Amino acid sequence: DWTSDQFVEVTVADLQKKLGNDRVVMALSGGVDSTVAAILVHKAIGKNLHCIFVDNGLLRKGEFEQVLDSYKHMGLNIKGVDAKEKFYTALAGLTDPEAKRKAIGKTFIDVFDEESHALTDVKWLGQGTIYPDIIESVSVKGPSVTIKSHHNVGGLPEKMKLKIVEPLNTLFKDEVRLVGKTLGIDPTILGRHPFPGPGLGIRILGDITADKVRILQEVDSVFIGGLREHGLYDKVWQAGAMLLPVQSVGVMGDERTYERVVSLRAVTSTDGMTADWAHLPYEFLATVSSDIINKVKGVNRVVYDISSKPPATIEWE
Ligand code: XMP
Repeated sequence: DWTSDQFVEVTVADLQKKLGNDRVVMALSGGVDSTVAAILVHKAIGKNLHCIFVDNGLLRKGEFEQVLDSYKHMGLNIKGVDAKEKFYTALAGLTDPEAKRKAIGKTFIDVFDEESHALTDVKWLGQGTIYPDIIESVSVKGPSVTIKSHHNVGGLPEKMKLKIVEPLNTLFKDEVRLVGKTLGIDPTILGRHPFPGPGLGIRILGDITADKVRILQEVDSVFIGGLREHGLYDKVWQAGAMLLPVQSVGVMGDERTYERVVSLRAVTSTDGMTADWAHLPYEFLATVSSDIINKVKGVNRVVYDISSKPPATIEWE
């Protein structure tokens, strides 16, 4: 029978044998998978693991600083790279969802490539790929149709001529969380909702500007903070907000307003392949809606997405 203790023991020994004195580079995202993978590799080879955490300007509010801090506390050898402007430049004027994903993916590879070339003698690329990613990327990028191009699988290795090490590629998400627990990783990190690699870039419909990112970060922060305060965060599989390319008329005091609309999305799911919209309490939705409208300048209307997957996807782009 599979146990996480045994998995850790066997995997660390395997990694030591496979990697020897070689250096490994890894991109971390703050997510569960890349964090658990990094801690495993770190346990095996210590300072020979070099981690890179890129601020693509599309992260949640305050996330870059918080996550970087917690990685440092875990003893990882990590470099934070502020690449916000590079991403915004690459995205300027792009509105097509696939074009945006490709621009984000390409910019990420460029930044990561540059950073890892600054390290000498790296032989391996570590990745937090888990078993469902392999299946999803085959089914998503089937030969006939691309639904959404996930940028976290593929791309990097070909360009960088590195060997790949993926210690979690036989595991499902719940097993990854158990392994993380065995490794002593902070439960708030292990319990985090999934967050897409392209981040808020695929939650801002239409073109992306730093200003729109700021608005969405504020909205998202009120929504996620509200879920935590009301004990709902762990009851949903994923949640976030979408900034719509729509303005609507409203009234504030005796002034007419013409401002942005956001849609909140929360789903229950076991693997993200199918999902139901979360039946959040009306009272909670009411509170969060007025909090958002009162606190976030530029937003005068909040809607709640009641679509399931399929046929809708979790992200709007
Ligand atoms: P969809 O929108 O396809 O999303 O229903 C299913 C799950 O995958 C996440 N997602 C991504 N994750 N890179 C990622 O790392 C991506 O490009 C990407 N696109 C979607 C989404 O957040 C959800 O958890």
